Amino acid sequence: MLNFSKNYTTYKSLHMGPSPVVQSTYTTDGRGRWFPLTCRPRQRTVIVIPFRDRDDHLKIFLDHYVPILQRQLLDYTILVVEQQDFTRRFNKGVMFNAGYKTALSMTDEDQVPLCLILHDIDLLLENDRLTYECSQHPTHLSVGIDTMEYRLCYTLLFGGVVAIFGEQFNISNGFSNLFFGWGGEDDDFRGRLGEAGLFPVHHENRTIARYSMLTHDQVEKSEARVYLWLTGPERFHCDGLNSVEYTVDSIHYKEHYVLIKIDMPTDFKTSSMCLDCFSGGLKTKTIQKAVNTSTVNSTVNNTVNSTVNITVPEICKMT
Ligand code: BGC
Ligand code: MN
Repeated sequence: MLNFSKNYTTYKSLHMGPSPVVQSTYTTDGRGRWFPLTCRPRQRTVIVIPFRDRDDHLKIFLDHYVPILQRQLLDYTILVVEQQDFTRRFNKGVMFNAGYKTALSMTDEDQVPLCLILHDIDLLLENDRLTYECSQHPTHLSVGIDTMEYRLCYTLLFGGVVAIFGEQFNISNGFSNLFFGWGGEDDDFRGRLGEAGLFPVHHENRTIARYSMLTHDQVEKSEARVYLWLTGPERFHCDGLNSVEYTVDSIHYKEHYVLIKIDMPTDFKTSSMCLDCFSGGLKTKTIQKAVNTSTVNSTVNNTVNSTVNITVPEICKMT
């Protein structure tokens, strides 16, 4: 376990110095992409980090990961996707979808496969043996986290850090755009992978997939998360990459990362994010079926009963 897991002040005072160390065998295109001069990587790794108001974590993240990524001889870009809006809760799904679309638009003369690493900003890899590359199956990397005693808290957990080819992300229609606040969007995403024929997903070996988590204030939970997750399969085809709506306010090419500032629609009710799925009314078949299964009960614990009555997420409700 690293010594900064519970409180990063110690880590901060040790590592908040100059920018991350760059190896002499590395070079950059000046637009966030770094690659080794000594070999040709098989993949183009883009680490997508949904972001809002975590400047201290970002500094630690860069200090920590730049040397690791370069030791792994990766062709990599760190893409920080910032939700500018503070009037709504954080929406990781929209940030991931916007990150994928941005990654696609970046120059790629070599045409090597795009590998996305979908990454929470507060998770720090504890060793170098876990390479940030994609393999045949979508892979959950943050299997062991110090605050969870290095164990999966439930077998279907698929959040934190995930490696997936861009092409696989595309065919699963990316993330739902409707999860505001903490929780559920990763469970929903896992369901999409199944629907897209990408099962089995893989969990990395937990002897090497070990992370320390930085501390932060509790994030507001999404009240609609269980309802959204239970009804997810009805919306996989209409809620995701194909309905996401956002504007890129600005792009900043920093030395070690690219920062993209995202604005979301001011009125969700008139946005494709809601209209594409909710205009025809919702079926409730899936939810009834799901409530009757034990998988659901063990996954969402006792929150099911209190949330099954919600029909449409507040954000999409017509008045
Ligand atoms: C939430 C997930 C979260 C997981 C682990 C679940 O209850 O739905 O979004 O990743 O807990 O904290
Ligand atoms: Mn966190």
